[in-house]
Amino acid sequence: MSAPRTYLLTTPIYYVNDVPHVGHAYTTIAADALTRSRRLRGEDAFLLTGTDEHGQNIERTAREKGVPTQQYCDQVSAVFRALWETLDIRYDRFIRTTDDLHVRGVLKLWDRLCGAKTPDGRDAIYTGTYAGWYCPRCEEFKDEDELKQPGNLCPIHELPSEWTEEENFFFRLSAYEGWLRDEIVSGRFRIDPAERRNEVLGVINQGLKDFSVSRARVKWGIPVPQRPDHVLYVWFDALSNYITALDYAGDGPLYKKYWDADSAERLHLIGKDILRFHCLYWPALLEAAGVRPPNREFVQGWITKEGKKLSKTTGNVIDPQALVARHGPDPVRYFLLREGSYGQDWDFADQAFVGRYNSDLANDLGNLVSRALTMLARYCEGKVPTRPAIPRERPVGFEEDLQVPATLEGRIKAVLDRYEALEFAGALSEVWSWIGQLNQRIVVISPWEIAKDPARREELDAFLYRLLEAVRLVAVLVFPVMPRAAGRIFRMLGLPERDPGREDLSWGRLPPGAPLGAIEPLFPRIEKERTVSDEKPPQIPPPVETTQAAPPPTADKIDIADFARLELRAGRVQSAEKVAGSKKLVKLQVDLGSEVRQVVAGIADAYAPESLVGKTVAVVANLKPAKLMGVDSNGMVLAASLDGKAVLCTFDGEVPPGTRIK
Ligand code: MSP
Repeated sequence: MSAPRTYLLTTPIYYVNDVPHVGHAYTTIAADALTRSRRLRGEDAFLLTGTDEHGQNIERTAREKGVPTQQYCDQVSAVFRALWETLDIRYDRFIRTTDDLHVRGVLKLWDRLCGAKTPDGRDAIYTGTYAGWYCPRCEEFKDEDELKQPGNLCPIHELPSEWTEEENFFFRLSAYEGWLRDEIVSGRFRIDPAERRNEVLGVINQGLKDFSVSRARVKWGIPVPQRPDHVLYVWFDALSNYITALDYAGDGPLYKKYWDADSAERLHLIGKDILRFHCLYWPALLEAAGVRPPNREFVQGWITKEGKKLSKTTGNVIDPQALVARHGPDPVRYFLLREGSYGQDWDFADQAFVGRYNSDLANDLGNLVSRALTMLARYCEGKVPTRPAIPRERPVGFEEDLQVPATLEGRIKAVLDRYEALEFAGALSEVWSWIGQLNQRIVVISPWEIAKDPARREELDAFLYRLLEAVRLVAVLVFPVMPRAAGRIFRMLGLPERDPGREDLSWGRLPPGAPLGAIEPLFPRIEKERTVSDEKPPQIPPPVETTQAAPPPTADKIDIADFARLELRAGRVQSAEKVAGSKKLVKLQVDLGSEVRQVVAGIADAYAPESLVGKTVAVVANLKPAKLMGVDSNGMVLAASLDGKAVLCTFDGEVPPGTRIK
């Protein structure tokens, strides 16, 4: 019997010569989302990440900062781990190239290579002289025709390369051309997207050059046992992490299960700048050493800002920590995976972040959840209604009305398949098209109308049960990308806040009669990156100096200073429920941008509570708090009164919550 399939997923290990930027977070979030989606499918998945700490560059940076090199590595590596923590990255192993486990593994691999023969019977490792243009930032020799002139500048860093000659150990990569081509063409070694696979094949077809695997000039690294004045080439050292972390040195159980097994998928996520190292050097080194090579690589695109790659050298980095501090981890994870197509370059625009947040998260998802739960509180006493008997193939029940042929199973499979193909934007857009349909169905079905007729109770319960189940399944499907928001939705549904598994993908899991949790706002809207300090206080004209006697005060008019004392703001209704025992009063939770307020309004005879959710209303925000029929009210909603019935003041256009009305 063959062993069950295992899934190892790795990120590149990040250089510690600087703190992380959004480009690094991008790969790690993608890796975490894919790993979570695999676990959701019930697969055995392992996520590996870490830091790359050797090399001249890091040694130089530590020296410039006046910190001992190891201490410097410890500090920056800890910054990466702290960021992964705030971004809810759940890795299984964090490897550092200064770990003893790693060093032992690298030396074992080196030892195997030193005794290895190429397919045509020559030594895989030999000594030779290397002379060439060396970029200390890339830690690699550059071909002369790659350099930018004048100045022999590295094409990536635009800094001068150094002419270098040294005696090195070489790896005979040229002997693995045929093997590499076969692996790729046969599909045994899968490289995506296709243009990257073609790029690698193109490089192979031009002929592969041997490369040096030791450095005489670098001190901060793993000494070569045969020549302790040399260290192993930083890329040889770094690439080895993928097996050393699993205890290749001790042939440990993780190594056996996730790397050295027929049924193991070994997938590396990489940036296109490190394609050659991962798709040529690394598999060939392993093949030579008699170790299984990786069998899948996915090459992500670059995030750019105004067309330029985010990098410290370009000076346009975006600090992921600051983004998370401002918006929380989920919107950052969502935006990065939704905005661009994962294998392609894309531009990070602040406005796009705000737009996606407000429309996809606050409006679409946030409103769906709060509308559904508000109706449940209103019509079902906050409990899961009776589960309707629904034919299995149409369990959610919305598709038939919309003439959409997809069954629930089809929908779920489409989303999970797209995660597996690393089409995160596609997976999310599948979920959002469902969210859109659900929001539409609420309006079309208008449960508040059905609720008026007691004879239609069963119909109402059936609709609300399906809606609630759909909300639960939406939360399960967004969990890989937004685990925290999914957990909060589970809590509101009265479910335990645990990672969902395969069993949670089936319909009808909500137990009828079970109490729902408290409704909490999911994603309060952002006001176009405005901070409170941007806001100008209302302009009060200076008093007019006059020698004449002041005109008599007009009792029925106020001046502008009186008006300025009123703090009027736009507010978005997040949830609404009737105040028990009152015909007129409704209790609203109103998003005022920087806070959510409870406001009691006398409009229940004119508006069904659910119809209020999502409306933007005018709120008197600095009214003294009051109690209305025992319920706290902190503000007032403006409305006209027509024949005794309220007509709300709304806006002639989209206005973000919290906007001052003047
Ligand atoms: N240490 C090496 C990797 C060794 S793996 C055995 C390294 N580190 S890095 O910190 O410079 O970059 C790590 C990854 O982040 C690379 O895959 C790189 O492409 C990716 N990114 C760095 N900047 C990026 C963007 N602006 N956009 C997308 N990814 C980016 O290379």
